[in-house]
Amino acid sequence: MSEQNTLVHSRNAISLHEDQEGVGIDRPGLHAATPGELPQNETFGDVLARNMARRAFLLGAAASVPVLMAGVSALPSAVEAAPRDGLNFKPISPSTLDDIVVPQDYFHEVILKWGDPLFPGAPAFNFNKQSATAQKQQFGFNCDFLGYFQLSGNNHALLAVNHEYTSGPDMFRHYAPGTDKEQADIEIAAHGGSVVEIVRDYTGWRYVKNSKYNRRITGDTPMLITGPAAGHKLMRTKADRTGKHVLGMLNNCSGGKTPWGTWLTCEENFNQYFANNDKTADADVKAAHARYGVSGGATWRQWEKFYDRFDCAHEPHEPFRFGWVIEIDPYNPNFVPRKRTALGRCKHEAATMALANDGRAVVYSGDDERFDYIYKFVSKERYNPGNRADNFDLLDHGTLYVAKFNDDNTGKWIPLTIDNPQLKGKFVDQGEILIKTRLAADAVGATAMDRPEDCQPNPINGKVYLTMTNNSKRTSVVTDTGSAKANPRTPNYNGHIIELTEAGNDHGSNRFKWEIFLLCGDPKIDLRTKKDQLTPGLPSNATFFAGYADADKLGKVACPDNIAFDSRGNLWIATDGQPESADIGEPNDAIHAVPTAGPDRGYLRQFLSGPKGCEICGPEFSTDETTLFCAIQHPGEGGGVPNQISNWPDRAIFTRPSVVAVRHRDSRKIGG
Ligand code: FEO
Ligand code: CA
Ligand code: CA
Repeated sequence: MSEQNTLVHSRNAISLHEDQEGVGIDRPGLHAATPGELPQNETFGDVLARNMARRAFLLGAAASVPVLMAGVSALPSAVEAAPRDGLNFKPISPSTLDDIVVPQDYFHEVILKWGDPLFPGAPAFNFNKQSATAQKQQFGFNCDFLGYFQLSGNNHALLAVNHEYTSGPDMFRHYAPGTDKEQADIEIAAHGGSVVEIVRDYTGWRYVKNSKYNRRITGDTPMLITGPAAGHKLMRTKADRTGKHVLGMLNNCSGGKTPWGTWLTCEENFNQYFANNDKTADADVKAAHARYGVSGGATWRQWEKFYDRFDCAHEPHEPFRFGWVIEIDPYNPNFVPRKRTALGRCKHEAATMALANDGRAVVYSGDDERFDYIYKFVSKERYNPGNRADNFDLLDHGTLYVAKFNDDNTGKWIPLTIDNPQLKGKFVDQGEILIKTRLAADAVGATAMDRPEDCQPNPINGKVYLTMTNNSKRTSVVTDTGSAKANPRTPNYNGHIIELTEAGNDHGSNRFKWEIFLLCGDPKIDLRTKKDQLTPGLPSNATFFAGYADADKLGKVACPDNIAFDSRGNLWIATDGQPESADIGEPNDAIHAVPTAGPDRGYLRQFLSGPKGCEICGPEFSTDETTLFCAIQHPGEGGGVPNQISNWPDRAIFTRPSVVAVRHRDSRKIGG
């Protein structure tokens, strides 16, 4: 389901647990690289040029930060002179078919499915014979973020994948939460993430089963807690008196990539894994947990029956160790993941990077909850393109800001620091501010948004695009802090996208301007074509497509979630919740594309439709943009084995969340 925190069997509602990762699994050939060390025969310039040239932090900043290009011999052809708009594909119609639908002359391949074995000796997927031991060696459940980290050429890469959550009724014939420990352990093992080597040959894309790079990270994988909150007394538990070591990552939704070739993976709805907050003894701790949605009573999955750390009555601080952005080196399977506390603690949807004009690292992140906030982290030190290892602790030191949107289309980034007078006396130290990020943002008057999801810098114009997926509970635009014009519909069922321009086009700035880019929905119902019509209190079905006026040509879109840019600055939008949108006719979730500049700015067209009951996640291009990868998450949601509403992709009684690759028959760039 598209609203969060619903502890029922539906998307975003169920996310959960963890389990052990590849620790102990025999993977011959792994070398124990230290942080910052590159795979054999790699140079930093290779990695940077291969992985990052398409991304905004290079392209957007290249003109103003020449130092960034040092060591990079050439940008890939994908970024050379191409039209700035002019998407060239025949749009598809909204679909309710139980299959992937792509435009004429395109085709898709399913390249990774839940349960696919990733290591030598790993058992093949067998729905009727699941075990935690097998799941630890197999591709996890409900794939979300996809990060393409190139290895060589255009057809060889590592795919970093988040496994957001499990839903027992879709995984087991008889789901027995709280009574079947093996099921709980399978769920824990199906969480976290995967790194998988992929190649494309004459047969198409496939994954490399026994690659030395393959890795599973689960809800039990040992991780380090780093940054200002590491070791804080609120981070200490009976099992970890240091407050610096934690097992696992949970509910990893979307993420990002850094210019130094690491993967940022974000814990989102972590609250639903922790039980019995009503029994938390410390009133301040209980209140902080409540602000993040940790509630009393049992959890939906009931892992707390088997593991005390998921029970606030036993380990009241354990929830503080979740809700972070984790950095992982995908090129080093032995890298110990780091929870970077300087980036703040919330229900992070994504963490996307840009570079300030002076070279500091900037990370944008939305807190996906109705009436929550948008954050930005700016590092203290500058990115060093000449020494990869130098950048590995860059995200441990810096300033976290939260966004305030003014109704005059200006805004500011408010620092969440212990010396901010608005926070003085309310928090003991910087560590507490970061652990209780939401409470600090409440105290400084941040703007309450309509479920912030992805934030992506545009590689052409440097503006940052922010998706607000929806907010069924916004009944008034005037009672929420400064949010009237930036969240103008009451209620907002279909979501919208904001276009943010940093002052001086500098991602390091603390001021910005903003405007509405899209008010999603059916343009034929109520299409507004002038910005001055976007007054607060718009009806829920009012739409706006960046001023594009031809309603007959426009596609319908709802609930924008993950977004990506191609190198021409066209925005690709994956949706989560279209089937619940009565305004657009309840089609399956989809991928749409829309130019952000030129005469076709706002001319949105549908490119892909997913199978029934899924959401589409992680749109990600290969470096040469001839492949668009996406994750099909929770196909069949709302049914449950054996009554699934989908039988994709195996046409069996169960569904399998999977990664899909889309290409053009003539190997053209996607949409080009
Ligand atoms: Fe997991 Fe915000 O979607
Ligand atoms: Ca999402
Ligand atoms: Ca979502």
